[in-house]
Amino acid sequence: MSTLDGRVVVVTGAAGPAGVAACTALRTAGATVVAVGHSPARLAALADRLPGLVVETADLSDRDAVDALAARIRGGQGRVDGLIHLVGGWRGGDSFGANTEADWQFLSASLIDTLRHTTLAFHDDLVRAPAGRVAIVSARAAAKPSAGSANYAAAKAAAEAWMSALADSFRTSTSGSEDGAAAVIFVIKALVTDQMRAESPGRRFPGFTDVGDLADRIVELWEADAAELNGARITLDS
Ligand SMILES: NC(=O)c1ccc[n+]([C@@H]2O[C@H](COP(=O)([O-])OP(=O)(O)OC[C@H]3O[C@@H](n4cnc5c(N)ncnc54)[C@H](OP(=O)(O)O)[C@@H]3O)[C@@H](O)[C@H]2O)c1
Repeated sequence: MSTLDGRVVVVTGAAGPAGVAACTALRTAGATVVAVGHSPARLAALADRLPGLVVETADLSDRDAVDALAARIRGGQGRVDGLIHLVGGWRGGDSFGANTEADWQFLSASLIDTLRHTTLAFHDDLVRAPAGRVAIVSARAAAKPSAGSANYAAAKAAAEAWMSALADSFRTSTSGSEDGAAAVIFVIKALVTDQMRAESPGRRFPGFTDVGDLADRIVELWEADAAELNGARITLDS
């Protein structure tokens, strides 16, 4: 029996580099994985690689679309044990004045609104689950922004604040019990994949986090006590 047999984990941003690694590790650990993304073609390619993967297309910046998604998953899979929120996107420039309104609209939709919508939609399912888990991947920049990354850093900082509020809700909803729910923030400098290494053989990627290592940490969320994990900000950059 695998660690995650019988559990249903929703991975949002599933077709991105971290999402592909997370879906693969969660499937290998025995979970039923619902892979959510924008592009049907990228999701179909992922489903071809991972037998048994459930795929769902949705614009997660649209609250009604997320509520409809949650209803479909409840109807189809019957439960939700995890929400691994890996929706990304980056915009920035080389000066403070380069933080444009258009970039803020993009980043607040992809990094904040998608998190608000999915956690609000799945909150009660995760509280009901025997060990509900929610995780996001934040960036060093949230705590140490550069001038040109103000939009990005502010959006990531807001996402972190939202996760802290979710952790507070889990603390009171599940009384900090060992098998209660937990909300966790992973913090990285940047991600690296095998493809990136192959494309730049001379580059060392210092401080980068391999998507495989991140995926392993995601699977391990179900091995730790909720009371210890809930509200944690776990730095993965080396
Ligand atoms: N990459 C890094 O170096 C780095 C650094 C710090 C933190 N992070 C964080 O780590 C996480 C994973 O990073 P990543 O590089 O794997 O992510 P990513 O490729 O930037 O984004 C993942 C996926 O999010 C989907 N997405 C974007 N907006 C969406 C929406 N409104 N509705 C539904 N799906 C949407 C995209 O789907 P489509 O392609 O189909 O549009 C994309 O495939 C992200 O939260 C990111 O912010 C990454």
